[in-house]
Amino acid sequence: MTAPKKLFIKTYGCQMNVYDSERMAEALGGQGYVETTTPDDADMILLNTCHIREKAAEKVYSELGRLKPLKEVNPDLKIGVAGCVAQAEGEEIMRRQPAVDLVVGPQAYHRLPEMETRVRSGKPALDTDFPEEDKFDHLKSRPKAKRAPAAFLTVQEGCDKFCAFCVVPYTRGAEVSRPAEKVLAEARDLVERGVREVTLLGQNVNAYHGGMSLAELIRALATVDGLERIRYTTSHPNDMDDDLIAAHGEVDKLMPYLHLPVQSGSDRILKRMNRSHTAESYLRLIERIRAARPDIVMSGDFIVGFPEETDADFEATMELVRQVKYGYAYSFKYSARPGTPAAERPEVAPAVADDRLRQLQALITTHQRQIQNSMVGRDVSVLVEKPGRKEGQMLGKSEYLHAVHIDDAKAQVGEIARVRIVDAKTNSLTARHL
Ligand code: SAH
Ligand code: SF4
Ligand code: F3S
Repeated sequence: MTAPKKLFIKTYGCQMNVYDSERMAEALGGQGYVETTTPDDADMILLNTCHIREKAAEKVYSELGRLKPLKEVNPDLKIGVAGCVAQAEGEEIMRRQPAVDLVVGPQAYHRLPEMETRVRSGKPALDTDFPEEDKFDHLKSRPKAKRAPAAFLTVQEGCDKFCAFCVVPYTRGAEVSRPAEKVLAEARDLVERGVREVTLLGQNVNAYHGGMSLAELIRALATVDGLERIRYTTSHPNDMDDDLIAAHGEVDKLMPYLHLPVQSGSDRILKRMNRSHTAESYLRLIERIRAARPDIVMSGDFIVGFPEETDADFEATMELVRQVKYGYAYSFKYSARPGTPAAERPEVAPAVADDRLRQLQALITTHQRQIQNSMVGRDVSVLVEKPGRKEGQMLGKSEYLHAVHIDDAKAQVGEIARVRIVDAKTNSLTARHL
């Protein structure tokens, strides 16, 4: 038997890329590859890339520059670029970095085995099509390999919303939902392999329509024995329908955490962003969600320094944050992306945008800390994911997605432990067994 070839995948960007990287590893498993944790001894390196902001895209080229010398050590090494930079820049990548042998867009991963054969024969391979067929149908999983207790499961991909700043509709294409029966079959398979929590993924996951709505899919998943926790991300405010809100109050397995990006608190800017909701409609929506599930922890995304954002617009964002009080929130400085409508507009001065980002992040951190502190003394359930750095310590996530360190580790990986929170830091909580 020949020794297996080694595959190193580096993943950038969102959770969907994390899921896709697992599927790519499985697809190349059929070509005799096993995964390795370092690029140094790899026969194939894949960068699964993100195009959302300029910095994310530029990182890929600097990483390629660092990896290139490895080809001198191992002449059989092949380097590939996958993901959203691959989709957006295509052949340009091979021109800018000739060490790249393979470029594959996010909808063409099922063609990786053929592409691998092609590059092994010394020819470059490029595929950035949006084929009709379901890429996941062709990605056969390895026989029942054991999985970590929390897994991602992509149910919907692409986006038809065309926010004025965003590349996703171009890099991932139009909104497509996977049929519910395939999602349910994959969930059952994951459970057989040790998974107890799934996070349903989609760029607009609550627009899911794979023969049923997202709320119906969640209710169906809740009947899967052994599956204990369900989450979903990312949602668009306009697709939060009544049934989905009701599910938060009715389905015990649906965890009390919701990522619901709003981007700005200024109606003028929201309009310019083509978001098709207002600050007020977003706040009313959160009221309804909290009425269904009062202890829900909210999270969100913000862009500061969007073209034409004034001090008053930014203050409206700060005010919205004060009203919602997020448990977590991610804020980004606007980055002009080629091909998007907003890229044509006059930009806010970088120093002004930096200053706003600092102010917003400070406010968000204050709230995050308050919410973490408010957990002390409370009893929560933790899905134990792995051993911690300290002797006898285990790490996991609470219902609210808080990272929890359990210090008196009587719990096993995969167990859902009832614990009492005894201490809080900004990014983690410490707990003891009850
Ligand atoms: N589908 C999700 C998010 C996709 S991208 C949604 O609709 O909200 C993740 C986050 O990156 C976005 O929510 C936004 O806050 C940020 N983002 C997207 N494009 C950006 C850009 N050009 N500059 C800065 N941040 C951006
Ligand atoms: Fe991008 Fe807007 Fe679609 Fe989210 S909803 S992926 S921000 S275009
Ligand atoms: Fe980035 Fe593509 Fe995800 S641009 S955020 S990897 S969908």
